[in-house]
Amino acid sequence: MGGTWLVLAAALIAAQAQNNRTGAPAVTRDRRIMSVGDTLLLPCQVQNLGSLVLLWRRGPAVLTAASLMVTRDERFRLVDGYNLQITDVGPQDAGDYVCQISDRVARDQVHTVEVLVPPSVRAAPESRHATARRGGATVLECRAAGNPVPSVTWHKLSNLFQNETNTRIGEGPQLQLSRLERQHSGRYACTVDNGVGPPVVTEFQLQVLYPPEITVERSWVHTGEGFRAELLCTVLADPPAEVSWYQNSFPLSASERVTMSARGNNHTLLIANVQPEDFGNYSCVADNSLGRARQHVEVSGRPGPARFTSAPLARADTRYTLAFAVDSYPPLDELRLLYRQLAINESFQQPGRWHDVVIPAPEPSGSLTHRVSHDLRGLQPGAVYEAIVQAKNRYGWNEVSDIFQFHTLGGTHTAHADELTPMFSSATALTLSDYANILALTILSLIIDQ
Ligand SMILES: *[C@@H]1O[C@H](CO)[C@@H](O)[C@H](O)[C@H]1NC(C)=O
Ligand SMILES: *[C@@H]1O[C@H](CO)[C@@H](O)[C@H](O)[C@H]1NC(C)=O
Ligand SMILES: *[C@@H]1O[C@H](CO)[C@@H](O)[C@H](O)[C@H]1NC(C)=O
Ligand SMILES: *[C@@H]1O[C@H](CO)[C@@H](O)[C@H](O)[C@H]1NC(C)=O
Ligand SMILES: *[C@@H]1O[C@H](CO)[C@@H](O)[C@H](O)[C@H]1NC(C)=O
Repeated sequence: MGGTWLVLAAALIAAQAQNNRTGAPAVTRDRRIMSVGDTLLLPCQVQNLGSLVLLWRRGPAVLTAASLMVTRDERFRLVDGYNLQITDVGPQDAGDYVCQISDRVARDQVHTVEVLVPPSVRAAPESRHATARRGGATVLECRAAGNPVPSVTWHKLSNLFQNETNTRIGEGPQLQLSRLERQHSGRYACTVDNGVGPPVVTEFQLQVLYPPEITVERSWVHTGEGFRAELLCTVLADPPAEVSWYQNSFPLSASERVTMSARGNNHTLLIANVQPEDFGNYSCVADNSLGRARQHVEVSGRPGPARFTSAPLARADTRYTLAFAVDSYPPLDELRLLYRQLAINESFQQPGRWHDVVIPAPEPSGSLTHRVSHDLRGLQPGAVYEAIVQAKNRYGWNEVSDIFQFHTLGGTHTAHADELTPMFSSATALTLSDYANILALTILSLIIDQ
């Protein structure tokens, strides 16, 4: 026992001597890079030790002195008398290991041990589920540990058509999301990587709460007596919304002819065997704890708006066959066409006057869609025209069609289809409601003329 203390004392003196010689050049120095769990063998080259004492220390802590184990850590062992072995290396074993001999000459052998530690992560919120209101903010956090210091990258995960696509949206331990929109709802992931072992991926779920939003596919539904009408409101809301239907501001309930159904976000009102009292102004109303939304859908027997079907490029220089289709359950009574020339020539960028044409109603087709074609003659060669169409059945006139543009062959300048749109937008600043007004005025003047 007394011998042990002597050796220890010698070791401590030697260590102190070392302390007094701080800054003295080491004889050898190397670097060991280990992984967690490895066994580390640190050699010490010794010749003619004689009565001198060999000491291993880590920093200021003495590990061994001569053959004595000073450290209580049983993973440490002396191999072949002088070499230090550490089994099951852990992150705490990193540091400078010095083999030192108790003489007065500086002949330290220093091994710098680094331990690679695979990445680990502490996530916040721990539940990995964050909830915030639209317009608000939230923070997702991945605190990473490991050696070397891991990098943290953030991705938004989306499942487009069953195909996972990841968009990189940030790096660093915190992902700050502000001015949240409902599109920000979804899955997020942080990836923590330091090249040691596989990266660690942590997934989060973000739920953005917002009041209902409604979109209607068609705000105007054409039907006829004895036919059916289908109204569709697509409702987005979180928390999910209660949806109800109204006709002319009276709440609707299901009946033999009226059914309400929901499929995902789609809420459908189906009216079977339409009666005259079913025409009118409907609305769907969506409520959740954050608010309410309403959208209107008109159910009407008037014809649907005309859809143009002819190609925009005429086959001739002064003639054009305008073709369009109109949906109407009852036969069409009357059709009206307005057309005019746009930008007469390059220096004279003013549209020509409107031509007003009454087109005879087509023969009852027996089907919902009525196809109409009408020949326009006496047009300018190489010119651009625009046209609008309106149709009437026994329930009244429909909405004015969209503006349609076509151009004739020939002239000095042959326009191409792709030139039409810019020409239109630069040459006229009329809105659709202007067209509706023009049409209404023309119809009025025709009635007065009669
Ligand atoms: C170390 O230095 C201190 C004062 O600087 C001195 O008292 C001590 O004796 C020295 N120890 C050895 C072992 O040289
Ligand atoms: C998913 O993406 C891969 C690669 O971009 C593509 O080859 C594959 O066709 C996609 N699958 C689907 C269902 O879109
Ligand atoms: C909802 O309606 C839209 C538009 O008609 C359609 O594209 C979509 O597939 C529908 N979704 C469901 C779940 O029925
Ligand atoms: C339906 O009613 C609402 C409010 O009462 C009104 O704003 C909307 O213009 C109406 N729509 C039609 C097509 O009459
Ligand atoms: C353009 O048209 C205007 C009006 O018809 C006419 O006065 C003018 O001479 C024309 N210019 C050219 C270059 O054709």
